[in-house]
Amino acid sequence: MDKFLIRGGRPLHGRVEISGAKNSALPCLAATLLTSETVILHNVPYVKDLITQRRLLEDLGATVLTPELRTQKITASHIQTFEASYELVKTMRASVLALGPLLARFGKAKVSLPGGCAIGTRPIDLHLKAFEKLGASVSLESGDVVATAPKGRLAGNDIEFEKVTVTGTENVMMAAVLAEGKTTIRKAAREPEIVDLADLLIKMGAKIEGSGTETIMIDGVDALGGAEHSIIPDRIETGTFITAAAITGGELEIAKCRPDHIEAVIEKFRETGVNIEIVDETTLKVRRDSKGLVGKDVTTEPHPLFPTDMQAQYMALMTQAEGTSEIIETIFENRFMHASELIRMGADIHISGNRATVNGPTRLTGARVIASDLRASASLVLAGLAAEGETIIDRVYHIDRGYETIVRKFRALGADIERLTEQIEENAPEN
Ligand code: EPZ
Repeated sequence: MDKFLIRGGRPLHGRVEISGAKNSALPCLAATLLTSETVILHNVPYVKDLITQRRLLEDLGATVLTPELRTQKITASHIQTFEASYELVKTMRASVLALGPLLARFGKAKVSLPGGCAIGTRPIDLHLKAFEKLGASVSLESGDVVATAPKGRLAGNDIEFEKVTVTGTENVMMAAVLAEGKTTIRKAAREPEIVDLADLLIKMGAKIEGSGTETIMIDGVDALGGAEHSIIPDRIETGTFITAAAITGGELEIAKCRPDHIEAVIEKFRETGVNIEIVDETTLKVRRDSKGLVGKDVTTEPHPLFPTDMQAQYMALMTQAEGTSEIIETIFENRFMHASELIRMGADIHISGNRATVNGPTRLTGARVIASDLRASASLVLAGLAAEGETIIDRVYHIDRGYETIVRKFRALGADIERLTEQIEENAPEN
């Protein structure tokens, strides 16, 4: 397993370009299953999860051409199977996003029920209940979700989610666009990735209104066509580099981003003493105020409030802020695993239920730590960049799932970070 070796204490300086959003590319790739015509997607991030999603589409029978590194031309004209295997789903739960499109276009889908992951049980009961409201029959057969449209085609309906679910909203949107009649989705997720998916679907011929609000109206059509679309920038990667500038005391220009997608993050970071200048609609300039950082409380909530995917990065920053900050995680039940690793580096953090209390500033020193999930890994990289001495982060495959060329990007900003690839053979003792 690869590791990162970081020698910290160096302020970062320079310009970084943000890659396409993993959490938009994943549903957009799934949406290509809705048509037999070619869909061209640009700005697809070169990360592990998208390689997995591409494999899923190919396993189903779609043709995926990659004329350039971040452009994918997908043609789902010869879908032979309607099943996402356990092998794929266990590596990436977002494979469940194949359910909606397969059900909508072919009237059947079989997807291995995703297990939980490090951050929580992450059920998909709300997805399945919504499919049933659209007329699907859903059953669980030896670990697989089997969904069929008894009449061959789903029927539009009024759907209200009990709680906000991002991929649940995406799955139901993709099911409803080919259903007979109108569908209203209430308590829909409002994330920018929902809007990006809706924009792609509309380009393909779908009739959707209200994406980005909590009520989405869809008028089902008989078929969708091809389209060309560019994936929005990754707002969480943007927030991660904002944190990197602040925690290392450097100054960064963050380009090809969308400041309007992370208003809550910008507002909260400014409150703590991070100086964020919105240069234009795709560029930020970030540095720490000379007065230093002040601890501020935060609660994670669905968009447009502070995102759970920025909680771990924020916690790392608060270890360097003056005073106490309370971090409350309301979305996932077990998303503080980075805390124990930060404590090993010298942080003063107390966890009680879904509340983490951080006292700062504390001097961070390099240590051997283990990544547990995608955003926790980012938090450990940030702490390593700020810590004195060497930090070795194990299990960095987590970070490779969602951050494109992260070592290359940080090195270009002056970080002393390298990837240690397990060379079993090279390390084998001479016989
Ligand atoms: C999406 O996950 C993101 N993943 C996550 O990003 C993100 O943390 C999450 O939304 C919240 O913003 C992708 O978009 C691929 P949810 P998702 O359904 O859709 C519960 C990352 O780091 N729930 O909005 O799976 C669920 O357990 C990843 O990139 C049900 O109970 O999240 C959770 O507590 C991590 N039943 C809450 O709702 C359901 O059927 C929100 O989950 C669905 C969800």
